Parts: sequence; C-alpha cells; structure tokens
Amino acid sequence: MRPLGYDVDDNATRFSNYFHVLRELVHLTNGWMPLEPSWERKYALGDHVHDDARALTKIKRRLYELRHPSEYPGSPSPALAELLDRMANATSAQEYLTVAYTSAKPALVRAMRLHLDTLDPVADEPSLRLLTQIVERQERHTERHGRFDADIGALPVQLRTEPRELRILSPLDEPLRDDFVEVTESGDPYLSRDLYVNGAENHVPVEREEQQHFFHGLMDAELSAAELMARNSHEHPEMPWDFHVDMARQNWDEVRHARLHDLLMKDELGCAWGDFPVGFSYFKSIYAYDLLGRLCLFNGTSEQRAMWRHSHRRKTLMELGQERVALVFDYLLADEVPHVRNGVRWGSYLLGGSERAYRDKVRELRAELDETGAPASA
Ligand SMILES: [Fe+2]
Ligand SMILES: [Fe+2]
Repeated sequence: MRPLGYDVDDNATRFSNYFHVLRELVHLTNGWMPLEPSWERKYALGDHVHDDARALTKIKRRLYELRHPSEYPGSPSPALAELLDRMANATSAQEYLTVAYTSAKPALVRAMRLHLDTLDPVADEPSLRLLTQIVERQERHTERHGRFDADIGALPVQLRTEPRELRILSPLDEPLRDDFVEVTESGDPYLSRDLYVNGAENHVPVEREEQQHFFHGLMDAELSAAELMARNSHEHPEMPWDFHVDMARQNWDEVRHARLHDLLMKDELGCAWGDFPVGFSYFKSIYAYDLLGRLCLFNGTSEQRAMWRHSHRRKTLMELGQERVALVFDYLLADEVPHVRNGVRWGSYLLGGSERAYRDKVRELRAELDETGAPASA
C-alpha cells in the first residue's frame, strides 16, 4: 500500500516553510559572501546561492499549483522565525555560515526527507519529483555538517500577520580576500591600461609572465563581479523574484570564471592565487552607484565592452596556437551575453519598462568614464 500522503493544504504549508528558509538563505548568503575571505568557500557560496534560488523558483511554482500564494505564502511561525532570526542576526560571515550550514540547511533536508517518505507518490507526483531534485542538492551542500531533529515542514503558517522583513547588512566597505592575498590601493602595478582598452591599441597578453599577471587580475575581477551581483540582490529585496534568480545565476557564473582562471594559473601558467597584489578601486567606484547605475556601468558597459576584448584575445591566441588559453575566452564571451542582458532587463525595469530610457542612461553614465571603463575622475 502506498502512503496516504498529505492533504493539499498541509502539503502547501510544508512548501511555505521551505520557501521561508530558502528565501532567507538566498538573501543572507548574498549579503555575507563578499565578507567571506576564503576563495574556496566563496566559490561554494556562489554555487549554492544559485541552487537555492532555482529551488525556490520551483517551490513557488508548486505553491501556485497547490492554489496558495506563491509571492508570499503567509508568515513563518514563531518556531521557524526563531531559526530564521538566528541566521539574520549573525554578526560575522563565520557565524552566519555556521547557522546556515549546521541548522537551516539540515532542517530543510530533514523536512524534505520526511515529506518524501510520507507523500502519496501518485497523487502528489509533482512534489515527489521536485523534492527529489532539491533534497539531493541540499544534501550535497551540507555533507560534512550537522543534522537537525525537528520537522520544520509541519510548522503552521501565519496568514494574518505582517510579512517578515529581510534584514539588510550595512553597506560594504570592501570585499575580503584570503589573508595570503595582498590588497593594495592600486592593485597589481604590472597590469597596464592597454590590456583593457578596446580597438587597435588593445594589447593581448601572449607571453607567460604577462599572462600570469593578467589571469591573476582577471580572477580577482571575476570575484568582484560575483560580489557585486550578490550585493545587488541582497540590498534590493524589493525587486521581483526573477531579478534575484538572474543575480544568483550571474554570481555563480562569475565564481566559475574565477575557478577557470585559478585552474589555468595552476595547470598552464605556473602561478597561483595570491602571487600578486589585488586592488578594489574599480569595485568601489561601481559599488558607490545605486542599483541602476551599477547595472548601466557594470553590466551595460564593462561587460559589454569586455565581449569585444574576449573575442579579440581569443582570435589572437588561436593564431599563436595557444588553444587552451584561447578557449577560456570563448566561454567568458558566451557567458557575457546574458550578463549584458541582465543590465538591459533590470535597468529597463527600474526605468518603467523602457529599454530606450536605459540605453540613454547608459550613454549618460558612460560619458563619465575613461577609455578603460574606469571613472575618469579616479
Ligand atoms: Fe566573468
Ligand atoms: Fe560577467
């Protein structure tokens, strides 16, 4: 005999509880990620935040199918709020990660496993498929970490209370790097401006020594890009859910790019993360803008212009027979297309849906930049 399963309302209540845990995990992981110094953990956070955002999208869809509000399915019970508050009130990245990975994620895994054991696999096959996918990923996130005894899925949802507010961390001063990485005002002095201009003047790094410095600087730039997207999402909980999914995807893409450069340095170039200094002046110049300005200048300008350079670099390196290095640029270029698109999509959204107003704004803000894309005043 197959299990009797949950009725539709109890089923939706369970998904509502997962909604709250994942919503807060996405929001807070984005907030703390730039303040996690370890490159390996930073990578994992970029990866997990993207998994969590996609999981939440699917859960929202299931809530809708179960005829429950998918934008905000009622507030969490005091017992769940207690767990969420422990995450929200953390005062360091370390403290947040401890609660997230030894309580919140294990609580999700435990509740989803119980859910899977209890549901009717025929009447509720959509939940079976969905939870099977999500729980496996969550288990991978928490492999070496704690377990959780209570079933948070069974907690009631409060229908007639104010929506739960998401805590926003104070603005970033600058992101953190592993302590073996030297951070200086101007970054790596080896990196010259002709590496970053478009057009005939552009210099493609072809010698080993210049490639070492170039990819090291690029790895740091990818991390900064991931951190900027993380903060765009974290600092703007009022934006539509799809915005957060796009930011989470780009966050993951950028840490994947950083990983690609990390491996290229180790395997092909004979250098490693931390061999040269890095600097945050470009990051800070973009971070100082509001969301619209960041989208115009980072996604709409920096990434848009980088596309030309990536394809130029690829072509030059292919001609020299440096296939491995050239292929890196092929993938960077491919991923840049949706990143530029994120600027158009959400910049236009912020301007009342007008793509034209966004293009005008990009033009206006670009006028303040020098030919490498850095603010002319800096
Ligand atoms: Fe990138
Ligand atoms: Fe990008």
